[in-house]
Amino acid sequence: MINLILCGGGGTRLWPLSRRHFPKQFTKILSGKSLFQKTVQRNLPLSSELFIVTSQEQYFIAKDQLHELSTDQSRTTFLLEPIGRNTAPAIALACFNLPGEAIVFTTPSDHEIENTEQYIQAVNRAKELASQGHLVTFGISPTYPETGYGYIIADGENVDGFKEKPDRATAQQYIQSGASYWNSGMFCFTAQSYLQELKQHSPDIYDAALRAHHNIRKDTEHCLRIQKEFMLDIPSNSIDYAVMEKSTHVRLVPCSFKWSDMGSFDALDTTQPKDDYGNTISSKFVHINSKNNLVLSSQRLIAGVDIQDLVIVDTPDALLVTKKQSTQKVRDLVDLISSQA
Ligand code: GDD
Ligand code: MG
Repeated sequence: MINLILCGGGGTRLWPLSRRHFPKQFTKILSGKSLFQKTVQRNLPLSSELFIVTSQEQYFIAKDQLHELSTDQSRTTFLLEPIGRNTAPAIALACFNLPGEAIVFTTPSDHEIENTEQYIQAVNRAKELASQGHLVTFGISPTYPETGYGYIIADGENVDGFKEKPDRATAQQYIQSGASYWNSGMFCFTAQSYLQELKQHSPDIYDAALRAHHNIRKDTEHCLRIQKEFMLDIPSNSIDYAVMEKSTHVRLVPCSFKWSDMGSFDALDTTQPKDDYGNTISSKFVHINSKNNLVLSSQRLIAGVDIQDLVIVDTPDALLVTKKQSTQKVRDLVDLISSQA
């Protein structure tokens, strides 16, 4: 099995902790290892090879972080994108470089996962289903109506529907139905199954990615580069919209391991220990009558009076203040800041 690690995303919803040139998957925000390093440590023992798709800008960060783990470089291939075109093209570009029958276990690089034994069991079941030609997702039981995730309606392993990032009311309905799962963002399939489904459901992405593949540059056997003029032609879309919502070959492995996505401050907050007032604090926070806030600061003292349900993230050059449940909009805020720079 080949572990395809996607780590070319900008992680903009965690601004200002996550920056364009140093996105969240590489920051050691809350522990000594980055989320990327934890992904490698979790999956390398289960895989014969790592295939890492990232941006040219992040190549050296990823390489350095692998070096820190003393991983065997001969088992690792990098595919470098000059610009991001989201996950559907990134996975296609990797699959074009792999044998058709190879089992590809695609994982993001921005998750925390606990309970290794249950994780290995789920991956093994996914491998079996993938070898039968299915596109396999890993379903997590939802705990609140998060609008930043995909939802899968399933009866056991049989999938009845896949809805990427629904609005809050729809997410609430899915949860109440009792038959829905969060899409964990990890997938397992053979390279040829993925490419066939992409060709059928999003032929424009398939065709443009194939042209980019035909013009790929090989720096070495273990470092491949896509050329910018060909990458620019590929429509940007995620695997969730381009393939998973449309395919009829999707299967689900229900998961019992502890999973959390570190995609937004609301998601991050659910994973952290709280003080007696429900505040998450990773800094010095002095307050009077303040409840359920997320307060992160690298240096300065933060003080609050009568504040509730706020997110305050202080870094040396930027301060974010927002409300809980508005944190998906931080991505739009970053676009606004970039447009004014
Ligand atoms: N190489 C590459 N190129 N990687 C990318 C690109 C790209 O253009 N865009 C995103 N990625 C990487 C990110 O670094 C991350 O590791 C992974 O692909 C998923 O992208 P996200 O941007 O984090 O997706 P998401 O969190 O909004 O949504 C996905 O994950 C959710 C669970 O975490 C979807 O699969 C949802 O359905 C799912 O619930
Ligand atoms: Mg994510």
